[in-house]
Order: sequence, then structure tokens, then C-alpha cells
Amino acid sequence: MCGIVGYIGEKSAKDILIDGLRRLEYRGYDSAGIIVLDDKPNLVKTEGKVDTLDEKIKDISMPGNIGIAHTRWATHGMPTDENAHPHFDCNKKIFIVHNGIIENYKHLKESLIKNGHIFSSETDTEVLAHLIEENYEGNLESAVENALSKVIGTYGIAAISADEPDKIVAAKFGSPLIIGLGDNESIIASDASAILRHTKQVVYPEEGEIVVVQKDGFITKGEISPKDRIAILEWELEQAEKSGFPHFMLKEIFEGPKVIKDSIRGRLIVDEGISKLGGLEDVADELSRIERLIIVGCGTAYYAGLVGEYLLEEYGGIPTEVEYASEFRYRKPLLDKETTALIAISQSGETADTLSAVKEVKMKGVLTLGIVNVVGSTIARETDAGVYNHAGPEIGVASTKALVSQLAILSLITLMFGRQRELSLVMGQRIAKEIYELPAKIEEILSQNDKIKEIAEKYKDYKDFLYLGRKYNYPIALEGALKLKEISYIHAEGYPAGEMKHGPIALIDENFPTFGICLKDSVYDKVYSNLCEIKARCGKIIVVASEGDSEIKNIADDVIYIPKTLEMLSPILTVVPLQLFAYHIAVMLGRNVDKPRNLAKSVTVE
Ligand code: F6R
Repeated sequence: MCGIVGYIGEKSAKDILIDGLRRLEYRGYDSAGIIVLDDKPNLVKTEGKVDTLDEKIKDISMPGNIGIAHTRWATHGMPTDENAHPHFDCNKKIFIVHNGIIENYKHLKESLIKNGHIFSSETDTEVLAHLIEENYEGNLESAVENALSKVIGTYGIAAISADEPDKIVAAKFGSPLIIGLGDNESIIASDASAILRHTKQVVYPEEGEIVVVQKDGFITKGEISPKDRIAILEWELEQAEKSGFPHFMLKEIFEGPKVIKDSIRGRLIVDEGISKLGGLEDVADELSRIERLIIVGCGTAYYAGLVGEYLLEEYGGIPTEVEYASEFRYRKPLLDKETTALIAISQSGETADTLSAVKEVKMKGVLTLGIVNVVGSTIARETDAGVYNHAGPEIGVASTKALVSQLAILSLITLMFGRQRELSLVMGQRIAKEIYELPAKIEEILSQNDKIKEIAEKYKDYKDFLYLGRKYNYPIALEGALKLKEISYIHAEGYPAGEMKHGPIALIDENFPTFGICLKDSVYDKVYSNLCEIKARCGKIIVVASEGDSEIKNIADDVIYIPKTLEMLSPILTVVPLQLFAYHIAVMLGRNVDKPRNLAKSVTVE
């Protein structure tokens, strides 16, 4: 989705802003723009990529040390030069970049036009520029404050005025925004990856807060740079770079073993068979009363939740439901606030639907918990308590390592609930011990990357795929299909293996291969039979199987063996070959693996 960068300091704003935009490209966008203030404002906007913008500005002298820039993902109006941000007022003195949506923009635009304002784009954002102009009396922050008081919607904004070239005014409500504080320079961005190169000291503006950013600090609520607002970014710059891998997606799949270690570090006590989740300690009393869990998420995070449902009911001893966040918020769910908790799963911590689900139940007094990767993100701050993934930045648009860490954390939460309820010490110890073994087992799977690539080569030209799994691996079948379709654009359907004969089997012939997850677990015979039904209809079959299972070769055309683990933890392993398979097919088909068409990394609009 849209990306914001702002710079004020002593260096060339142009270079820093362009570098920042490049680091935000992964979020998905279709146009870009920049304004740098010198003696006069230098504004350049373009449809297309940051490269195009860079080309357009390379011969323009922009020595200024203050500016803002943006990558736009079109919502109101086509991706054109005019609709790209920054937007400006009638006098071309006030400039603004904005993420989010101004819901009442039509009404505001009509009254601004009546007052004589001239608009030059179709966007909702431009309304903000004119509203600020309307309220401007020589103080940008007061003008922004007054303008925003008339707005309904969500925003992360950065605004500058040619009359006050010593400040950027930033504000946020429902859209991410971070302020980086460097040495005589400040950088504003919608994502930490644009800040990391410059500083690790950051401030996370609160919902509805307006912050004046200067080169030597920030002013908020009348206070100058309050120390207790400054946090330190945990991420390293290398984590946001490819480090020799051809794509972020491959790098992030290969980070799986480290991600598990980082997600569980200090959180597992094997001897006692328990997990210790510091982020949930403050709500320990409330949690002991909980009788029902609702998990919400979108896309891959939702599939993590589906695995969580199996885990939490079988081993955590707690009734659990999982819902698409986008559906949950409109369902008017019946919730008992004394005994229900909601878990929101989100890598970015900014997904609009998931955030709205959190806000919805919070209003009803329900305890909200987060499993969130991005520290300081909106969902992390909106929830009452939570567990950070510590997976590091995920740059590939298709979620891979985040899912692995979400599953690891759900296993820890299961242990926590389970051991407070019926789960025995012995079983707790077994689970904890096995979680520790997972990184080495993922390494073993990754060592088969070349073999998985060969299998991908065989299947890359098929137009449709079916993914089947059952019980814990049913959500992984859904995830395998999602990965393939989103990065290779091949049609794929995920199904619970037992449902296949209730419809999808009609699709099967020699041109419609099936990817099955058939491990030596409690549903082995069932899934095996389902795959036999495919075989009988001449369907090609690829299987992820347990090492040592030679029987599976009787029906499978291709087998990827994975190490044995507990059935409940197996999704953490089975998902890896599915991610690699999708990755290799997408590369072979020449797709833009890290930035697939039409997709955005964090979906901050409904
Ligand atoms: C799929 C994918 C998306 C996200 C979904 C939720 O590969 O990346 O389906 O999982 O948009 O995003 P977060 O986890 O940031 O809330």
C-alpha cells in the first residue's frame, strides 16, 4: 500500500527520500512523487515506479534539506501523474502526503470548491491540502489540527509549508507512521525499513496525535522531545536487505530456522513443560477466566489462526473459533466480555480489517491480544496485551517466515493455556522439547531446495492445482494454494482432503495436479485414500510425506520427505516445501516474486 517518507536535516533531502521510497517499494504502489523545498518548491510526480521518478528528477537541482515523498497505491482516481502525491493547496505552498482514506472527502471537496479552491486531482487526499490552506494562519500544526478535526477516515500524513521550512507536521490515525531521530536530522516513514539506514531511535505517534518534526527533535502535545517517547528499533539493516539471495522471499523462507529460535527465545521451559510469555503476564488474571477464544486475521495470518484452532482446542483445552477479520467485524458476534478473549494475528500490525475487529471488540470490553511482528505497529498498541514474533522485517509481499513464527507462537500460547488446564507435565515437556527441535528439522527441509526446484520445473506449465490436507495440515493446504496463486498467478485451490469428493474431484484429470500433505499421523489413512481417488482419475500427485514412508510412492508421482515431528507441530514443517515450490514456479515463469501484481504488503484500507 502507499508509503510515506519525509526528511529534515542537513543532507540532501532528495537522495534520502528516493532511497526511502525504494525501501518502501515492496509495500506495493503504482505512482510516486517528491517535493523538496529550496528557494522554491521542487515538486515532481509520476505514474509508475520510483525508477521513473528518479529518472525524471536526476537532472533537476534540488539542494534542499527538507522534503516529503510518497508511493501511491490508487484508491480514489487512476494511477496518473496528477493523482500521485504530494498534493498541494491553491498557492502551491502547502504540500501533503497521505496514507489511508478520507471517507467524507466528497462533502468536504464540495464546500471547498464553493469557497473557491481549485482542485487538480481526483484524490481524497487533495482535500486535506486545501483544508489545511483554509485553516492556515501562519502556523502549520494548528492548521493541520483544525483540518483533521473535520475529517472522517484514516490517515498517516506528513505536511510541509514553504513558509515554514523548518518543520514537517506529521499525524496518524489508523495508518502507520514512525519518526526516526538521527544526528541533526529526522526521518518520517510509514515503515521502519526506510528509517533503519539513518537511525534506530524512533517515536511511534499515538492514534490521533499530531507531531511537529524538526531536524533536532520533535514537539508533541507542547513538550519538546520527551525522552520517554523514544524507542529503539530492534531490526538490523541487513535484515531488510537481500544478503546474496536473489529474492527477499527466498531469503525469508531460508530464515525459518532462525525465526523459530528468535520467536521462542526465553519463552520455553522444557523441564516444566511450560511457556513464559512476558507480553501476556499483565493480563494473567483475565486469561485464567477465559473460556472462549476468537482468533482473527487475514490471508496467511488467518490460516495461522486455523492451525491455532486445532492446537488450542486439542492441547490448550479452550474452545476456539477463527474468523476472517473482514467478516467478523460485520457479523455482530455475541460476546461475553468476562470469558472471551480475541487474538488478532498480523505480521504488519497494520491490516485495516484486523485492526477494526480489535477496535470493535474492545468497545464491547473484550480482552484483546495480539500476535504481531512489527513492534510499535497499530495493532500491537491497540491490543491489551500480546506476543511479538521477533521474526525481523518481512519484505517479500508473500508472507513466509511470519507464518512460521506465528505458528511457533500459537504453540507457545497453547502450552500456556494447556498447562493451566488439563495438559499433563509429560505432554507439556514433550511439546516443549519438540519445539526446540524444529529449527534443525527446517534446515533438513531447506537442504532439499534443489530437489523441490526440479519438481517445480516439471509442474510449472500446469494451469490449475489442487492442494489437499487434513486436520492440522488442512490450513497448510490453503496456504500452499494461496502462495502459488499470489506469486505465480496460477489458479490453485486449497481444500480439506475429505471434502474433495463433495465437488472438486470433478475437476481432476491429467491436466489438474494435486499437491497433497500426507504425513504418518492420525489422518494418514484418510488422506492416503483421498489421494488414491485422485490417482484413479489420472491426476498427477505431489506429496509432502513423512521420511521413511515408502508406501506413499505407490500413488505419488513426486514425493518431498520431511522429518517427523508431533502432529500438532507438523504445519511448521509442511509449509516450507510448499513455499519453496510456489517460489520456484513463480521464478521460472518470470514473475515479480517479491512484488506480485496487484498486491500490497500491508493492506491498510478496507
Ligand atoms: C499472503 C499475505 C497476506 C497477508 C494478509 C495479512 O502471502 O501476505 O495474505 O497474510 O494480508 O497481513 P498481516 O499479517 O500483515 O495482517
